[in-house]
Amino acid sequence: MDLKANFCIPKEYQEAIFLDFLKKDKLKQFNNQNYTILPGFCDVHVHFREPGFSYKETIFTGAKAAAHGGYSAVCTMPNLKPVPDSYENLKIQLDIINRDSCINIYPYGSISVDEKGKNLSNMEELKPYVCAFSDDGCGLQETSLMKEAMEKAKELDMLIVAHCEDNSLLKGGYIHDGEYARKHNHLGICSKSEYIQIERDCNLAKVTGAKYHVCHISTKESVDIIRNAKKDGINVTCETAPHYLILDESFLQEDGKWKMNPPLRSSEDREALIEGIIDGTIDMIATDHAPHSIEEKSKGLKSSPFGIVGIENSFQVLYTYLVKTNIISFEKLMELLVVNPRKRFNIPLGKDYSIWDLNVNTIIDSNSFLSKGKITPFDGMKVFGEIETMVVNSNICYFNEK
Ligand code: DOR
Ligand code: ZN
Repeated sequence: MDLKANFCIPKEYQEAIFLDFLKKDKLKQFNNQNYTILPGFCDVHVHFREPGFSYKETIFTGAKAAAHGGYSAVCTMPNLKPVPDSYENLKIQLDIINRDSCINIYPYGSISVDEKGKNLSNMEELKPYVCAFSDDGCGLQETSLMKEAMEKAKELDMLIVAHCEDNSLLKGGYIHDGEYARKHNHLGICSKSEYIQIERDCNLAKVTGAKYHVCHISTKESVDIIRNAKKDGINVTCETAPHYLILDESFLQEDGKWKMNPPLRSSEDREALIEGIIDGTIDMIATDHAPHSIEEKSKGLKSSPFGIVGIENSFQVLYTYLVKTNIISFEKLMELLVVNPRKRFNIPLGKDYSIWDLNVNTIIDSNSFLSKGKITPFDGMKVFGEIETMVVNSNICYFNEK
């Protein structure tokens, strides 16, 4: 049989995925020009909340949500209970993944014991089971501990992944320290609280030779620092998230759905991030999928927890607002969602692909999410694209039963 669907799979995987697609009778209906076949996306930054906070999300619901978004691989952040700082603690998550996940999940190990920032986790013991080390959710305040972590990571040939945030500069802030905060009397989070730690860590990565990756960058200064560090030959990569590229503080309203950490910054920051995407300073886009209950997120900007969901609409949002607007090419989007994250985190692409109708015009509807988390500022936005099916490891793990 001939392939008639649009096929956007990287060369080296084309044959395996092509044969897998043609073998599946249930997918024959998609073999025409209305449909596009894409490689499984890879999200290096998600919060699936298990063990510890299964009322917000479980590995089962998080994996279903990922499949619904076109993702076949995700890396789960360690701000859990217990924190995966030893094999014993990590094993709880590994067992749930084995039992409940329909996609490929690669957990992080924490950098410090209980993410307290005082002592190093058992990195050596964790190494065979984790994708990298991170204390995401909070910044590592102690320079000496970050240096020790990088030295150990270098020895183990592992990646340090940093949530950069200097607590001494926060002063109770919860949205960007900018125009909206001033006008509406909110406490602001300054840009420096992010970029000062990126600057510190780039220097440490230079000294130690460690592989270093920065989480969810949101400021123009962060882009400049990483651009210069790369020029300087430092082994650094970084991610940003869809909301920092498409939204900024001018969108803010008095509603917890606009609250995440780092916060939505100014339009100049947003433009600098887009520049960073275009010139390759920013290597990948991750969602920071951070589900909380509807009740928790209903407490406004000041009192809601930080975090929004993202994994079920990131592709449509990026396709609509960056590709359809000619800001980046479709190939570039695939580099950001598939090629670069897999390369940096060493995550293979198997028989993992999604099938989309990219011509459909839809409205993002959080009621249709498979995640337990429903809160996102993109809810109600018009986007292009509807997913028909997701295949992971040759198994159909999402199918749109219209
Ligand atoms: O918005 C956020 N939510 N930022 C973080 O750093 C943590 C995350 C969460 O765990 O909810
Ligand atoms: Zn974070």
